[in-house]
Amino acid sequence: MAQIKTIGILTSGGDSPGMNAAIRAVTRAGICNGFTMKGIYRGWEGLINGYIKTFTTEDVSGIINQGGTILKTARSDEFRTYEGREKAYNTMKAEGIDALVVIGGNGTLSGAREFADEFDVPCIGLPGTIDNDLYGTDSTIGYDTTMNTIMECVDRIRDTAQSHERIFFVEVMGRDAGFLAQNSAIACGAEAAIIPEEETDADQLAEFMKRGIRKSKKSCIVIVSESPKCGAMYYADRVKKEFPEYDVRVSILGHLQRGGRPTARDRILASCMGVGAIEAIKQGQRNIMIGYRKSDVVYVPFSQAIRTDKYLDRRLIYTLNELSI
Ligand code: F6P
Repeated sequence: MAQIKTIGILTSGGDSPGMNAAIRAVTRAGICNGFTMKGIYRGWEGLINGYIKTFTTEDVSGIINQGGTILKTARSDEFRTYEGREKAYNTMKAEGIDALVVIGGNGTLSGAREFADEFDVPCIGLPGTIDNDLYGTDSTIGYDTTMNTIMECVDRIRDTAQSHERIFFVEVMGRDAGFLAQNSAIACGAEAAIIPEEETDADQLAEFMKRGIRKSKKSCIVIVSESPKCGAMYYADRVKKEFPEYDVRVSILGHLQRGGRPTARDRILASCMGVGAIEAIKQGQRNIMIGYRKSDVVYVPFSQAIRTDKYLDRRLIYTLNELSI
């Protein structure tokens, strides 16, 4: 295998708090170990079009506390095509980039896997997504910060919900995964969570109303996972029609969930994973995601990391149900 001298780093897909801490860690650990580090701007688009800059340690100074990503991010349609990936490979050659560290979610790591297979490029992935939907890691970079942001918002909503004695449907992100909804519901003391993992099992709204939450409480918070078909608006409309005696409101938290200063937990996770990525390259690892399990850095093959069915612990559902009486 050719010796790796230069490593490119990019962020792609939805940004997440802690991506900057990861960029800093990868860059500094890389330089510390004698690699040349190159920042690639605007995700895969930047690799296709050559938006690239050699990074010094100063380029990543003062960013550990910032949300978003200094490298910018994008979802690239061109990279989904073979021609796009070929252009990206040609840019790598022209720039002398021997390996990549890519930070992003499911889509980003799927792209990395395909690219690595087609062009025999060593790629290391870091799980950067608020959704926590990647396999093989206890948490993804950004998940903890977003959980705390949701908690702060819902605590505020609770004040007005209680004052007016209303049912609030609060919609949170997560794409196809219910981690944010289920765990924030527990953290906020919400009465219920409606999550995609339970979609086929039962009519979750009917279950919730049947349990008679309103018998013992005058106001309710229901956290709903975003969904094109049945998000918070859908459930609020149904309650208005089926249970008109209740006063219902909706709050969609939207993109404010993705911004903000990363928590200590996310900064530490990103830092350990960034150092782990360079260590993995030194060991000759390739085409793996860096995970963090039980305080240990682990290597997760891309094929496992991007499985679509990350397990949501049933105890979390049980816990919320027990506590929301
Ligand atoms: O994957 C991260 C995420 O924030 C999802 O939770 C959400 O569905 C999606 O990105 C939103 O993407 P966009 O910023 O393109 O609207």
